[in-house]
Amino acid sequence: MANISYVDGIYCNNQNAAIHINDRGYHFGDAVYEVILFNNGVFYDYDGHINRLFNSLKSIDIKFHLSQQQLKIIIKNLFKLNRVNFGSIYIQVSRGVADRNHSYFNLNSKPVLTMIISKKKNNIHDYVKGVKAITISDNRWSRPDIKTTQLLPNVMAKTFANKKNAYEGIFIDHEGYVTEGSSSNIWIINNNEEILTREIDGKILSGITRKTITKFAKNNNYKILEKKFTKDEMLEAKEVFLTSASSFVKPIVKIDNVKINNGVIGKNSIELRNLYFQNF
Ligand code: PDD
Repeated sequence: MANISYVDGIYCNNQNAAIHINDRGYHFGDAVYEVILFNNGVFYDYDGHINRLFNSLKSIDIKFHLSQQQLKIIIKNLFKLNRVNFGSIYIQVSRGVADRNHSYFNLNSKPVLTMIISKKKNNIHDYVKGVKAITISDNRWSRPDIKTTQLLPNVMAKTFANKKNAYEGIFIDHEGYVTEGSSSNIWIINNNEEILTREIDGKILSGITRKTITKFAKNNNYKILEKKFTKDEMLEAKEVFLTSASSFVKPIVKIDNVKINNGVIGKNSIELRNLYFQNF
């Protein structure tokens, strides 16, 4: 059972874990986060996630008091305390506690670090199912490249998708190009066997799984183009899949009312998913 969390210096039972009512993460979403998967002693893409956490902190000007080394010790302790073999860790750092005031100018609050472990069923080797997605216009703020906890448009998009019996909501920008999923990066494989995923242009999160898949795929002679593609190109693609730390590579077989590849999972999506696990 995973029921011990970490809150601002204290390892505690989830029931007793509490953050201050004036935490700026709670008031303003003034916080950043990461999710890392863990499997029998291996953290997937640990360095990538931790580096991105520190970049996010820098982007929103949070002066974090812990080093990467100190963070690693806490994460390892937490996994030991929870005796979890397979699961994920949620790491959040807020700007800290202060009387409610939008501005943080001259505020010397101490950042608040929280971590929650979730125990999951190890589904790495399970049969992979294709999922449905819906499209939705991208109504997020202009910095979706920073991994902040301010996720209301993503929450609305995912809920809208789930209500329509779909797994993911795919954001489309005002020019008709795909940006990303509500909690994932989106990829297509076109009829020329080119694999496309949007370039890191500030309009998407620089997914860590995306980066790793790109590297592994290139090493295995796949043709990867980091280039944006339209919704129409996506609907006409041979294969569509999403990537994220919690979903790895997941094939998408239907978008809105359109079947992709006649609703059949493409072989490349499966091969890329396998490559991800073989290389760790
Ligand atoms: N979400 N884009 C968005 C908007 C995301 O929220 C995520 C991840 C990704 C994929 O990034 P990565 O491969 O680094 O996980 C892309 C996490 C899993 C979440 O919010 O739970």
